[in-house]
Amino acid sequence: MKKIIIANWKMNPDTELEAVSLTQKIDSENLIIAPPYPFLGAVRKSQKLSKLGAQDVFWEAKGAYTGEVSVTQLKSLGVQYIVLGHSERRILGETNDAVVKKVKAVVSLGLIPVICIGDGLSDKIAGRSEVAVMDQLMPTIEALKSFKSGKIIFAYEPVWAISTQKDAKPDNPENARNMILKIKNKVLDEGLKGLEFHFIYGGSVNGLNAGGFLKYDEIEGALVGGASLKPDELTRILKI
Ligand code: 13P
Repeated sequence: MKKIIIANWKMNPDTELEAVSLTQKIDSENLIIAPPYPFLGAVRKSQKLSKLGAQDVFWEAKGAYTGEVSVTQLKSLGVQYIVLGHSERRILGETNDAVVKKVKAVVSLGLIPVICIGDGLSDKIAGRSEVAVMDQLMPTIEALKSFKSGKIIFAYEPVWAISTQKDAKPDNPENARNMILKIKNKVLDEGLKGLEFHFIYGGSVNGLNAGGFLKYDEIEGALVGGASLKPDELTRILKI
């Protein structure tokens, strides 16, 4: 099976020129590139094989929402995938409630949400990782019950494994696989008919460790942050 590799550039690079140059270096069939909003158009024009993603969206369709961006606007630029509920957004105040509204807006318009869920370091230390993950997962499952078709990606991304966190270490691939299995079983238990689900891992994935995660059938891809800005690293991941 082909794996899904998503390059989450976060708030990088600084200029459109750099975004275009990076796109040209990493452009590849199995890749989804999620640049910052201002570079979406330029990245789209430089893509020959990869697909376009966005890092967030607002749930309302239009109107007086200064600074926000709608699903329709992103769609008009060629965006097909939208990352939702990333821990870096949750840290800035994004709630489960907001993520649910965004999921509904994205699926309603036929785009693919990449719903991020993950436990924090304190959850891990307290042995409540699964509880924390389920707390984020369940509201989105409820939200999806009103849809009869669509493709959904869940990304298990433990916050403590994100490379920019202090003392970050990638999850052990076996643990990541086990948590993904728990997420998958929960989703499948709910009997959401007509929807297609995929499950990927994120958190310090790089050219050296990607094989350890992607060798498992249950881990259908990777959400890559830091390494997605380094063409050599990303190329290694894509080769795997
Ligand atoms: P890193 O790959 O830099 O750990 O980032 C993971 C991430 O947050 C991707 O969304």
